[in-house]
Amino acid sequence: MVEKVALIGSGNWGSAVAKIIGRNVTKFNHYDNEVKMWVFEEKVNGRNLTEIINTQHENVKYLPGIKLPENIVACPDLVETCSDATMLVFVVPHQFVTSICKQLKGKIHPDCKAISLIKGIDVNADGFRLITDMIQDSLGVRSCVLSGANIASEVAEEKFCETTIGYRNRADGELFRDIFHTPSFRVNIVEDVVGVELCGALKNIVAIGGGLVDGLKLGDNTKAAIIRIGLYEMRKFSKMFYKDVKDETFFESCGVADLITTCAGGRNRKVAEAHVTTGKSFDQLEKEMLNGQKLQGTSTAQDMYNILSKKNLCHEFPLMTTIYRICYENLPPLKIVEDI
Ligand code: NAD
Ligand code: 13P
Repeated sequence: MVEKVALIGSGNWGSAVAKIIGRNVTKFNHYDNEVKMWVFEEKVNGRNLTEIINTQHENVKYLPGIKLPENIVACPDLVETCSDATMLVFVVPHQFVTSICKQLKGKIHPDCKAISLIKGIDVNADGFRLITDMIQDSLGVRSCVLSGANIASEVAEEKFCETTIGYRNRADGELFRDIFHTPSFRVNIVEDVVGVELCGALKNIVAIGGGLVDGLKLGDNTKAAIIRIGLYEMRKFSKMFYKDVKDETFFESCGVADLITTCAGGRNRKVAEAHVTTGKSFDQLEKEMLNGQKLQGTSTAQDMYNILSKKNLCHEFPLMTTIYRICYENLPPLKIVEDI
C-alpha cells in the first residue's frame, strides 16, 4: 500500500518537520512523494502565506531562512489537505485541535493513522484528555505521539538531536519513525504514548519556571533545582493519573533532555524571563516577541491548575501551582523559590 502523508500545521515546528518529511518520503517507494501541508491562511506583506510557500519554498513568517522541499505543497483548505492522506501529522498549538478535529470528522481516509507533535493537554468540564485521545475519539484513528528536545530552528538547521515517538501499535511507530528519522534527527520509539505525551505537555510549565529564575538572575544552581523539581512533579502527575506510565520514558529525549533544552533556549523560557525584566503580561509579550507564534506553557499551567484544584491536589505540586499563580494571579516572581 502507498502511504500518503499530510501535515496539519505550518508554524515554527510544523515547518521544520515539513523539511524532514518532504525529504524522507522520497527515500522510500511506499510513500506518495507529494506532502500537503495545511496552512492557517494569512497575509504576509500583502500576499497569501500559502502562495509564498508554494513559490519561494520557504515559510517566511514562521521559519524564515530555511528552504522547504518542493514536494511540500501548502494548502489553505483543511479538508482538502487531509482527505486523501493515510498518515496525518498534527502539529498545531494545542488550543486549535478541537476545531480542527470537528472539521475533519467523517472526512478522512478509512485507513488513516495519526501522530501528534503537539505539546499540551485538553481540559474540559469532566477533567482532562490527552491530545492523542482527542484525535482517536473524534476521528476514530489510532494516534502515536512525537516529542523531544527539539527546538525547531536547531532541527531545521540539521544540528544533531534526538526525539521520542510513543506508540500503542508498534507497526504505526515504525511507519512514523521512517518519515521522521534522519542522521541529525535520531528517533527512538517507545511503547508509552501517555508518558511521552505528558512529558511534552508538562515541560512547558517548567520552562516558564526556568525563564522566571533567569529573569530574577538567580543563577544555574537555582535553574537546576527548578528542572529537578519539575521533573519530579511531571512524573508524579503522570503516574497519579495514568499508573502504566513507564519510568524509563523520563530518561528519553522527551523527558529529561527536553526539560534541559526548553529551560535553556525555548520560547516559554524567553517570554517568562521578559515578564520578570519588563513587568509586562505574558499575553502582551507573546504578541510583541513571538510574531504570531504561540506560547503553550502559560495555558498548560492554567489547565494543570484547574485539574489539581478540582481534586484538592495543589499542595502536592507546589512548583506547578506557584508557576500558575505567578502567571495568572500576579504573584511576585520570587515566589518561585519561596513557595516550593
Ligand atoms: P507556532 O507557535 O510557531 O505557530 C502558531 C501557528 O498557529 C501558526 O502556524 C499559525 O498560523 C497557527 N494559527 C494561528 N491561529 C490559528 C487558528 N485559529 N487555527 C489554527 N491555527 C492557527 O507553532 P509551532 O511551533 O509549530 O507549534 C505547534 C506545536 O508544536 C505546539 O504544541 C508546540 O508546543 C510544539 N513544538 C514546538 C517546537 C518549537 O520549537 N517551535 C518544538 C517542539 C514542539
Ligand atoms: P518552546 O515552545 O518553549 O519554544 O519549546 C520548544 C520545544 O518544545 C523544544 O523541545
